[in-house]
Amino acid sequence: MTYIGTATSRVDGHAKVTGAAKYAAEIHPDDLAHGCVVTSTIAKGRIARLDVSEALSVDGVIEVLTHLNRPEMPDDDNAYKDDVAPDGSPFRPLYDDRILFDGQPIALVVAEEPEIAQFAASLVRVDYDREPHVTDMHRRREEPSALKPSAKPGADPFAPPKPRGAAEKAFAAAEVRHQGEYYVPIEHHNPMELYASTVIFEGDDKLTIYDKTQGVQNVQRYICGVFKLDPDDVRVMSPFMGGGFGSGLRPQYQVVLATLAALALKRSVRVVLTRQQMYGLGHRPAMIQRIELGAKADGTLETVTHDALTVTSQYEHFYRQETGWSGLLYQCANATYAHKLAPLDLATSCDMRAPSAATGVYALECAMDELAVALRLDPLDLRLRCYSDRDQHAERPYGSKNLRDCYRQGAEVFGWDKRTPEPRSMRDGNELVGWGMATGVWEALQVPIAVRIALTSNGHAEVSCATSDIGTGTYTIMAQVAADMLGLPLDAITVKLGDSTLPQSPVEGGSWIAASVANGIATTSDAVRHELLGLAKQMPNSPFADVAPDEVMLADGKLVSKRDPASAVSIADAMRHGGVDRIEQEKTTRFAKDESRSHNVHSAVFVEVKVDEELGVIRVTRVVSAVAAGRILNTKTAGSQILGGVVWGIGMALHEETLLDHTFGRVMNANIAEYHVPVNADIHDIKVIFVDEPDDTINRLGIKGLGEIGIVGVAAAVANAVYHATGKRVRDLPITLDKLD
Ligand code: MOS
Repeated sequence: MTYIGTATSRVDGHAKVTGAAKYAAEIHPDDLAHGCVVTSTIAKGRIARLDVSEALSVDGVIEVLTHLNRPEMPDDDNAYKDDVAPDGSPFRPLYDDRILFDGQPIALVVAEEPEIAQFAASLVRVDYDREPHVTDMHRRREEPSALKPSAKPGADPFAPPKPRGAAEKAFAAAEVRHQGEYYVPIEHHNPMELYASTVIFEGDDKLTIYDKTQGVQNVQRYICGVFKLDPDDVRVMSPFMGGGFGSGLRPQYQVVLATLAALALKRSVRVVLTRQQMYGLGHRPAMIQRIELGAKADGTLETVTHDALTVTSQYEHFYRQETGWSGLLYQCANATYAHKLAPLDLATSCDMRAPSAATGVYALECAMDELAVALRLDPLDLRLRCYSDRDQHAERPYGSKNLRDCYRQGAEVFGWDKRTPEPRSMRDGNELVGWGMATGVWEALQVPIAVRIALTSNGHAEVSCATSDIGTGTYTIMAQVAADMLGLPLDAITVKLGDSTLPQSPVEGGSWIAASVANGIATTSDAVRHELLGLAKQMPNSPFADVAPDEVMLADGKLVSKRDPASAVSIADAMRHGGVDRIEQEKTTRFAKDESRSHNVHSAVFVEVKVDEELGVIRVTRVVSAVAAGRILNTKTAGSQILGGVVWGIGMALHEETLLDHTFGRVMNANIAEYHVPVNADIHDIKVIFVDEPDDTINRLGIKGLGEIGIVGVAAAVANAVYHATGKRVRDLPITLDKLD
């Protein structure tokens, strides 16, 4: 294969750096009106009075839409359920006078210019009837009756797994024990691109919606449900996305507001959220996790208990499977889990990169480090002693699991063998040096997907699928796979995606799209090849008269016999003889459920920190992340995914925290000056290694996907390195310098 596995640069790179790639807020239909959102300033209660008269009197203001004058909207929850909605009653923007969270949209001011809308929005007067709110999970935890179970063990994919053995007894009997409580705060996604929708009113209630989303067809179905529109009348486009990280899996409220305004005014409308308003969308749930580990003195892990309390809203039950990773990652006979939800007066939590694993594995991997200290074992050695070749939840082997090579190669490149075990034993001038490590794990998921390929006689192919490229490089890997499967050069492939009229695709998330769409392209390419072979067979003296489809391949613009490369027919000739100038095939690829093996991706992360002894300032000076994720489609874009995940893991460890003022139930740092994320000066040497992990069990191309794995384990490795440097164990994130005092 020519392109698969290479460091191919992004095929959309030129469009992106020149500005030719247009994002949702950069589409300029004629006669565009601009909406500005007014948000609530209380966390719970009702709108008692809404006075929009002053806003309406501003020159250039067209309308102010509120729950009082909005067009009709359905009153059943099902109409507001999107493809990935959790249980509960989805939020309905501008539906009624109820306030469910601070920062909730309560009015949309529509004007001829965005600045006019923004000014007029400041003139909307609101009186509230306040009700008492709770936004503090620690306070909620004090009232056990207010907590809710997530789901019964094994009830759904996000419920805690079924326990095994007798964890409590084993813990009591263990020779060495560790228990600890670990805290992760609310975190916000902060993608570069603001949430935005430009709704083009095409007449007769026909809409074309440019929306920032990870799933155009999810948004299309949702908008049709909310506004009772015919699917043929709503086209949702998202050709480019400036970062989603999970915040764009569910439709966000600006698309409802922009659509509502376009339908009410029969005019094209754009709504762009402000950075501050982005903090009123979903977030990674804050969580308190309790871990108990018991081991034999030789490091045999005997028991794991993992309890989680995670944050959701009052109206939806969002949860992910935080606890189960602990019973999966290491060989251990006894394991038990519990998961409760703390409902708060906030917007519903949502998925954020490696949802459940980034956080659950953080707690486990810190606890494993603490256990290693208690056992007087090297942390890497402990992990090798408990290495698990089997999935103990499903009681089956893995299709492939090359975590051993991640440990080995990662440790070698990092120089782990030069580590001295005692905390505070390594230094560099007045800085304490700490080395920490952790394991990462994620699932290798695949989803049903449809791909259409149109091959023309000039040797050009258009490959299309309604999936999104959320910045990960989907355009590029689709072009690479199509070029290899169709035997064409990369620049002969055009990729179309991010358009709801294209063949069906689920949302892009969970690290499942690369594997799914790549195998989807392979399936559809087979159909194209079969059709070409059919044409070639009819040619006079055809070399393929008695040849089966699997005996030919496409290479260099030709149909070629696998056995005899000299036996070939060009695509152009086959089509000319067949009297066609185009072959079009669309196929849906489904992935059979594999009951005999489990499929996961893994990583080993090694981190060096240097801590200023007087000031407590922590610098992450080196990271090595070794990843086993099956066949790597593109070493450049894949490397970037891991790099980005590592940077975010550093942010999770040291910087990120959404701070709430619980008196008001409001985010205090709703901006990226005060919500800290790593900047260039925080990031030093990061090395990414992909270890070989051939896998012919997962899918025909051996692809697993790696959007999430890069972040998993990183925060724990940093925390463990900080302990090694300072002797101080910080169990609540982020590890700010005051906590090292
Ligand atoms: Mo990812 S959190 O599934 O976008």
